[in-house]
Amino acid sequence: MNFPEYRPRRLRKNENFRRLVRETQLSVDHLIYPLFVVPGKKVKKPIHSMPGNFQLSVDHLVREAERVKALGIPGILLFGIPDKKDAVASGAMAKDGIVQAAIREIKAKVPDLLVIADVCLCEYTDHGHCGMLEGEEVDNDTTLELLAETAVSQAKAGADMVAPSAMMDGQIGALREGLDEAGFATVPIMAYSAKYASCFYGPFREAAESAPAFGDRRAYQMDPANSDEAIREISLDVAEGADIIMVKPAGAYLDVIRRAKEEFDLPLAAYQVSGEFAMIKAAAQMGWLDGERAMVESLTAIRRAGADMIITYFAPDVAPLLRK
Ligand code: PBG
Repeated sequence: MNFPEYRPRRLRKNENFRRLVRETQLSVDHLIYPLFVVPGKKVKKPIHSMPGNFQLSVDHLVREAERVKALGIPGILLFGIPDKKDAVASGAMAKDGIVQAAIREIKAKVPDLLVIADVCLCEYTDHGHCGMLEGEEVDNDTTLELLAETAVSQAKAGADMVAPSAMMDGQIGALREGLDEAGFATVPIMAYSAKYASCFYGPFREAAESAPAFGDRRAYQMDPANSDEAIREISLDVAEGADIIMVKPAGAYLDVIRRAKEEFDLPLAAYQVSGEFAMIKAAAQMGWLDGERAMVESLTAIRRAGADMIITYFAPDVAPLLRK
């Protein structure tokens, strides 16, 4: 029989063989769960395009943080939806802003859970763009000052880490300088380094009420066609002092994750964004996909591509499976 000597199927025969040769591990250690906080009390408002996710007032948020902690998930990523939005995003950096209040409360009640604060202005501007407008354009350098101020206010409230997502040039350097000057030299920065102008953020914009009132974000977020540019973006963030680098979205950008893993030695995060989550949930609800297997497969693929950690709305769904 002219058959090759090597038969790959020998080591796939049963689960014990498969366990021995499995190259990628997915564990609860790698998960970060995003949460949305709103003003008020006893608010738990479903986000329709993200089944199982809610806009939560601080009281509910604390309970959710306790559940996340009990599941063994190391941290949450916090987004805020303020009472009022204005042209200068004052809610983002207010001492008693919604995220600042939420951080203080979670750190008081669930101290042993990492609270990561998203640093962006789009949830706080009345026009929904990620920075200060100059005419119809987002002005980079005035935005940097506001981002740094926002990060410092979050650190003051007790944030364990800040995660700038506005895609302004120089934002990591501006935050590092601001944090250091304010006495927060030990607060790390998780940089959304290669963040693409993606349609997969659609459901998030319902969740965060942050859709731009005009235009889109292509003048600051990356073109989905580019990957060399992702390497340049990440290099800048590393030079400016990023502690963790990120590629976002994840599923359609596995090649970028792989390149980032190979070219940089900093811890690498990938964000499985709202649209990736929504697609799997929707197909599962239709009975078109096995939702649980699609969840595990998509997360495993992101790890296989090279992500050290994954920000995912599946975190509390997948955690119990992983701990079994
Ligand atoms: C803020 C921000 C966005 C997301 C994370 N931070 C939205 C955007 O850039 O429009 C998207 C996350 C997701 O879709 O899950 N700039």
